[in-house]
Amino acid sequence: MKGVLFDLDGVIADTSVYHFQAWRKLIKDHFNRDLPDELEKQTKGVSRKDSLTAILNYLDIKVSDADFQEMTDEKNKVFRELLASLTPQNILPGISDLISQFKQHDVKLSLASASLNGPYILEKLQLNSVFDAIADPSKVAAGKPAPDIFLAAASAINVDPKDCVGIEDSIAGIKAINKAGALSVGVGAKNELSEAKLLFPDTSALNYDQIESAWEEFK
Ligand code: BG6
Ligand code: MG
Repeated sequence: MKGVLFDLDGVIADTSVYHFQAWRKLIKDHFNRDLPDELEKQTKGVSRKDSLTAILNYLDIKVSDADFQEMTDEKNKVFRELLASLTPQNILPGISDLISQFKQHDVKLSLASASLNGPYILEKLQLNSVFDAIADPSKVAAGKPAPDIFLAAASAINVDPKDCVGIEDSIAGIKAINKAGALSVGVGAKNELSEAKLLFPDTSALNYDQIESAWEEFK
């Protein structure tokens, strides 16, 4: 195992709840409609535009291109306001230890987040210096569940995807890792992340030795 491709929201920090909170506010303000909890998993890991498309499809609402653009900008404004108070205390349990283990074993760290706010969030968490690379989601052709961002993250650390593990909390992300040819490590519920090759119920359960031996079997 030479590289680890990290998702960010919901794996490194619990910012995935902020995303959905921001969508809920936007939809309430614009249409006075409430979003059901189950829509959250459809927007997890998915780009900002693809998330709004899924939400509007669910609500059966059509908007002009200009309004669509304005709505994604507005959602991002709300999300950035929620991020303003982010500190290293928002790093999820077990993640700092896991990062240290990867470092000790010379495994390179690359960020494979769909979020255009990735660099900003890592900065707020004081984690940017521990990452060897950050893949830029604005430069990839297709978002998760396509493998592109994971391929870009592996290439940014010069490691073959099959020598990498990817860590994800979203259905779209697990599919993307599998398609990229890396070992998929899921964080979350079994009924949701059934395609993950290795699954932990939450970040505090993530274990370097288990990840390493799963990769040895997978390679
Ligand atoms: C992912 C989140 O990490 O980033 C999604 O799970 C979000 O919910 C996506 O839509 C894009 O984020 P941003 O910050 O570019 O709007
Ligand atoms: Mg995520």
